[in-house]
Amino acid sequence: MCGIVGYVGKKQASSILIEGLRKLEYRGYDSAGVAIIDNGVLSVTKCKGRLANLEAQLLEEPLKGNVGIGHTRWATHGKPSDENSHPHTNEKGTISVVHNGIIENYIHLREWLMAKGYKFISETDSEVIPHLIDFYYDGDIVDAVMKTVTKMEGSYAIAVVTSNEPDKLVAVRKDSPLIVGLGKDEFYIASDIPAVLNHTREVYLLEDKEFVVISNDGIKLLDAEGKTINKEIFHVTWDAEAAEKGGYEHFMLKEIHEQPKAIRDTMTSRIVLGEPITLDDINITKDQIKNLNKIYIVACGTAYNAGVVGKYVIEKLARIPVELDIASEFKYRDPIMDKNTLMIVISQSGETADTMSALRLAKSKGSRVIAVTNVVGSAASREADDVLYTWAGPEIAVASTKAYVTQLIAMYIIALFFAQNKETLSHEEIEEIKIAMMELPEKAEEVLKNKETVQKFTAKTYMHKDMFFIGRGLDYAVALEGSLKLKEISYIHSDAYPAGELKHGPIALMEDGTIVIALATQEAIFDKMVSNIKELATRGAKVFAFAPEGHTEIEKSVFSVTYIPKVMDILAPVISVIPLQLLAYYMAIQKGCDVDKPRNLAKSVTVE
Ligand code: G6P
Repeated sequence: MCGIVGYVGKKQASSILIEGLRKLEYRGYDSAGVAIIDNGVLSVTKCKGRLANLEAQLLEEPLKGNVGIGHTRWATHGKPSDENSHPHTNEKGTISVVHNGIIENYIHLREWLMAKGYKFISETDSEVIPHLIDFYYDGDIVDAVMKTVTKMEGSYAIAVVTSNEPDKLVAVRKDSPLIVGLGKDEFYIASDIPAVLNHTREVYLLEDKEFVVISNDGIKLLDAEGKTINKEIFHVTWDAEAAEKGGYEHFMLKEIHEQPKAIRDTMTSRIVLGEPITLDDINITKDQIKNLNKIYIVACGTAYNAGVVGKYVIEKLARIPVELDIASEFKYRDPIMDKNTLMIVISQSGETADTMSALRLAKSKGSRVIAVTNVVGSAASREADDVLYTWAGPEIAVASTKAYVTQLIAMYIIALFFAQNKETLSHEEIEEIKIAMMELPEKAEEVLKNKETVQKFTAKTYMHKDMFFIGRGLDYAVALEGSLKLKEISYIHSDAYPAGELKHGPIALMEDGTIVIALATQEAIFDKMVSNIKELATRGAKVFAFAPEGHTEIEKSVFSVTYIPKVMDILAPVISVIPLQLLAYYMAIQKGCDVDKPRNLAKSVTVE
């Protein structure tokens, strides 16, 4: 998704903008550009491709100046190209704009502007913005931007500079993230906090339709009517290191290794032995919980896969029916909801457009919404009634790993919280699960020490074009995530199946050498799983299994097995997903893929 950075201060804007954009690379992009003002002259450099291309151009023709905006674009309207890259400018070259989001009424605005003689050079929706600002500009850029946004429908975070008011930067957001970094006599704007973290830990989190005006005189926050507003400064406690690779070859590998800590952090102050579970930002009452007729869990991608586990555990522990939905499907199927229906949205970024639409639909039907998100101040956290933050820290690799395991922890916490309130489990049963949960970080460390079998397996199989992941119950939930990880970063096609369903179709595809990754971590259905594995092995499939320590009998039926530490059945996904993440990682490495930035994927998808 697009990334925006802006700077007003005394330093050279160019290097600060590039550095900030680099920190936003994880959002996914196909082109990049900057606009910088020097001595009242606005200059733009932009091009298709990676940031390195832009840097090379800036090296050849440096742009001087202390005020500027930068952008990384992820194409929506118009292909990736130099012309479609941001910043976009008015014809006179005096106003430059970067935009993240989609202007839904851009065709209408474009025609309206063209009728007034404006000429367009790109295929983007965004180009209407500098022309509209030009149309309204009458010596006051703030006023012109305010008038412009009243004409724009859709989602946007925009930043604007003009050579007519050369020390000024104006920015505003609606349904797209934007933060303001507060330095000493210098200010930053960005789509996300990591972009400014090297310079400041003090930020404002802008809300919808809030404007920021930065100039050499300082900073002003305005509402849509132009009235000054006061905002609390948010102090970022993340370690700057936490947003860097810290010694690992890739962010993804680093983030896989951060999982024990992420699991521990997410349980902190929530899972305390002998004490009832209390959740700071969750205000749903005991009566409201008792009256729930149904829960919808709604999410996309990896977060959806965490929801599959959520459904199992909430139903099992709290005895409330749970429906699970892919966010992009949810609103088109007229869901049955009322004030006694609860929606749980799961979203690492808290900004995913489809997930946000589902959340808004639930609210419009009078239902309560709990957001499980990793990003403080994200749209989901602001718009939901209750929030449970996953404390995974910033996740940079596009493929989600540590956010997923913390989403699982969040599902257990919510399930236990409901069970406690509905009294579907005894105090002793809840304590037993809490004890088992507290052992998870250590067990995760153990799995991370044992990578060799996975590495050896990938070295032998990475050239395969197809693979299958199978499991039963919660193992099937993990199979879905293992399969998604493999597809995302190694581009190997794979399907995940409930093992019992194989005989209803996929078994027809089994032949000599077919690769099957089988999860058999659930003690209660272990024997059933072994029978399924045997069915496949007799048809020539090479089965790579994951089984709990001690179950050596599985060796007879499989090509290779990795033993994982024994944990309570319901908690197994937290541990068994780790070798699958490593499997995807090493497959991608063997194939020479760009692990942290897989092709065509974006970390945060803020368009529907
Ligand atoms: C994108 C990312 C996935 C992520 C999904 C949902 O597709 O590439 O890794 O799982 O969005 O993102 P969210 O921020 O809502 O969890």
